[in-house]
Amino acid sequence: MEAHSKLSEARRLYMFDELLLLPGLAKKSPKEIDASVHLDGINLSAPILSAPMDTVTESSMAISLASAGGLGVIHRNCTADQALDMIRKVKGAEAPDKGSTLDKEGKLAVGAAVSTNDVESAVRISAEADLIFTDVASFYNSKVISGTKRIMAETGRKMVIGNLGTKEGVIHAVNELGAENIAAIKVGMGGGSICITTDVTGVGSPVSFAVEEAAAALSELGLFGKIPIIADGGIRYSRDIAFSIALGASFAMLGNLLARCTESPGEVVIKEGKKYKVYWGMGSAEARAKRLALDRYQDSKGKDVDEGFKTQVPLEGSVQDLVSRLLAELKTTMGYVGAENIAEMQKLARIAVMKPREMKI
Ligand code: IMP
Repeated sequence: MEAHSKLSEARRLYMFDELLLLPGLAKKSPKEIDASVHLDGINLSAPILSAPMDTVTESSMAISLASAGGLGVIHRNCTADQALDMIRKVKGAEAPDKGSTLDKEGKLAVGAAVSTNDVESAVRISAEADLIFTDVASFYNSKVISGTKRIMAETGRKMVIGNLGTKEGVIHAVNELGAENIAAIKVGMGGGSICITTDVTGVGSPVSFAVEEAAAALSELGLFGKIPIIADGGIRYSRDIAFSIALGASFAMLGNLLARCTESPGEVVIKEGKKYKVYWGMGSAEARAKRLALDRYQDSKGKDVDEGFKTQVPLEGSVQDLVSRLLAELKTTMGYVGAENIAEMQKLARIAVMKPREMKI
């Protein structure tokens, strides 16, 4: 692109608040709709993953979320021994319900985030987790990709890669790593509720845009439907999960919404009689104080750059209640759209654009 035409050729990005799903011919009632989806051979009855953040996912969250049909992803702001301890607690938990997410042995399934700079720890964690996730702000990075290649070679396993935010980024990553080594692609940058990456750096890819870009890249490569897309960051309502799926995602990853649950590790604070949980970004000063996952962000030669902040979210209830509600609402949306399952939702849902709207929730 010529320097003088960058603005005139710039893409317009749409946020969830500006989108609307159009009604389609409904054939089934919400109860008959199937929102289940596979992730590397694991069947999830709810297309929901928990963010690998130290105020979101430790063993209690992972146990409750897998029991509710989603999948927990253990954070990496800890030592490999601590991560393994959390994974073992999940594997040791009872798997009661029919809709639970299970491994091949019938134990609760669990994912874990790994550092692409620490192959040894990734290999140890990979031996016990059902799925391993790279966990970096931007996966479109040569060093991160070469670290990922080493982990894939050492473990011989597929990985969930991310985050990516553009079509070129997805095509580059797939070409470098090989489609057969990728379990899923996680997308979105700068859109997280506790994220200030875009405010500080001016760089970002809102999750709606990121999903569309990834879907376009995978379609061009003939891989759409073969490698699932995970929409990550900025999911506030079930409608955002529905929009993400309509745009081509198969799963949504939640930080803020799950941090509000009793099972998140965040500390409870009481303010004017109301209970809140502490929730912070992995690029916040609070998370970086542990100094264990600094490589999630760009290394800026000794000077840490804040890319996240600390906040408090209202304490709302159990993971089971949240997931049941989100799933019921998602199935209602799918009913209106006329989609009987996730693949149909990706294919059939039509989207209109309107002025940003206020939500009254
Ligand atoms: P939320 O659900 O909107 O709160 O977004 C959660 C997502 O934000 C995570 O899954 C990460 O992808 C991303 N994230 C976590 N910590 C930070 C941060 O400190 N800065 C930017 N993004 C973050």
